Amino acid sequence: MTPAIQSEDFTAAAADFPEPFRLLCRASVESTNDEVRQLAQAGAADGLIVLADRQTAGRGRRGAAWFSPAGESLAFSILVRPTEPKALWPRLALAAGLAVTEAVETFGLSAGIKWPNDVWIGQRKVAGILVEAAADFAVVGIGLNVNTTSFPFEVSQIATSLSLEASQVFSRAEVLGAIIRQFSVRRPQIGHDFDDLLDAVRLRCILSGKRVSLSTVNGPRIGVVEGMAAGGELLLRTENGLERLIQADDVRVVVS
Ligand code: BTN
Repeated sequence: MTPAIQSEDFTAAAADFPEPFRLLCRASVESTNDEVRQLAQAGAADGLIVLADRQTAGRGRRGAAWFSPAGESLAFSILVRPTEPKALWPRLALAAGLAVTEAVETFGLSAGIKWPNDVWIGQRKVAGILVEAAADFAVVGIGLNVNTTSFPFEVSQIATSLSLEASQVFSRAEVLGAIIRQFSVRRPQIGHDFDDLLDAVRLRCILSGKRVSLSTVNGPRIGVVEGMAAGGELLLRTENGLERLIQADDVRVVVS
């Protein structure tokens, strides 16, 4: 396979971003989520994106490390200052996951959403979303394996990249542009038109009909996923009846 593109100019792609999105590129940061949080606290406006070629302390959910080798993947964070009530902010993860999935589809690959916020191709994870909220803003962090061809041992059995799936090298700038265009459409739908967003997520929900085990704030659960409720909650049929889960971690499909 052709070697991955090591350095790429994002200027042209950024010039085409819809309002209010604008891009700050950094060579190396600890975490783009932290960079955006600091800029937000200093007064940055809605729509700022910080993208880093390299993260020295990129993180995923539950404090896990996020692997993003320099020049091969996309690691970026978007500052959102929602006008919607805070109760609706968790929907940003769905909007971001859907935007990534739809963007991937524009490159001819079929992707699915593993509720609440992973993007998978086939049986492997290609992208993760980390939304962190503060009092008056939220940071939407997105990590997408674009041209990565080898992964650390711990994730090598479950991770993939666009490049591995399509046997070609992708322009990270083009992929970023596609994600931002989709996010600009989906982000306002956390308030109005949420039904439209949810229908699109349901179509791509890879857990529907599957038996899963997961952990919730109320403890572990095992059951069959019956779909998603009107607020984006996962509908899980357990031995105790139908449960609506607002959030969950460590969601695993159980092979029975
Ligand atoms: C997950 O799947 O656990 C979420 C991964 C989120 C990774 C992205 S990379 C850009 C942003 N900066 C971080 O430190 N994390 C997110």
